[in-house]
Amino acid sequence: MERLYYDIDLEKVPQHLAIIMDGNGRWAKSKMMPRTYGHKKGVETIRKIVEESKRLGVKYLTLYAFSTENWKRPKEEVDALMNLLVSYLKKELAELDKNGVRILTIGDISALPKVCINELEKSKEKTKDNKDLTLSLALNYGGRADILNTVKLIAKNVKDEQILIEDINEEMISKYLTTNESVDPDLVIRTSGEQRLSNFLLWEVAYSEFYFTDAHWPEFDEKELQKAIYSYQNRDRRFGAIK
Ligand code: IPE
Ligand code: IPE
Ligand code: MG
Repeated sequence: MERLYYDIDLEKVPQHLAIIMDGNGRWAKSKMMPRTYGHKKGVETIRKIVEESKRLGVKYLTLYAFSTENWKRPKEEVDALMNLLVSYLKKELAELDKNGVRILTIGDISALPKVCINELEKSKEKTKDNKDLTLSLALNYGGRADILNTVKLIAKNVKDEQILIEDINEEMISKYLTTNESVDPDLVIRTSGEQRLSNFLLWEVAYSEFYFTDAHWPEFDEKELQKAIYSYQNRDRRFGAIK
């Protein structure tokens, strides 16, 4: 395969890759530019990484785009992020569709501006039959909020006598989470040096591998992605067992 910077085994590429895209603001600051410039550049990285993920054979790609905590940011920045989401979808939808990418969201998108919801619904509908790569955008997503919502749904079903308490199991919980369309992540990448989850996929990462890089999201690229996958492939996933 062309453009392999590392000795990656294409048979053992993570099936589900999840990325905490961090460092847009710090990258922009280092260039003496406004934070929104960093977000704009970050969208270009998304384009590159979606394409490269598909090329390498990743089946599920989840991108943390906006957390339940990100509402705490200044309104101008939140607005800029929402506008970028709309322009990304408008600009990329045809190409994503052509490339066999299925677009999904995780999190509670009902709180997003109407124009975002419309664009997301349109994108999901148009790409719903695509099979090559499932791209999940985490929007107004929080791991705790997703678990809380699941607890409420299950409690209601118990109350309505739809299910028995004895029947509640891990698979059921996974099914009620908004991440229910994908498998648990094999590899979680966080850019920009921070080594924390920031409320991302709390239930789902039980046995994920983690990879942290100092590269800011706008400077993360195909080579950095391959490096992360190469690192992942050289780990021993034991899942609690012994060899
Ligand atoms: C990631 O970059 C994008 C979002 C969280 C939406 P940041 O905006 O968090 O950039 P830093 O961490 O402040 O540098
Ligand atoms: C996590 O990044 C959320 C996203 C990447 C969307 P943050 O920049 O919001 O996380 P903290 O505040 O540094 O933990
Ligand atoms: Mg950040």
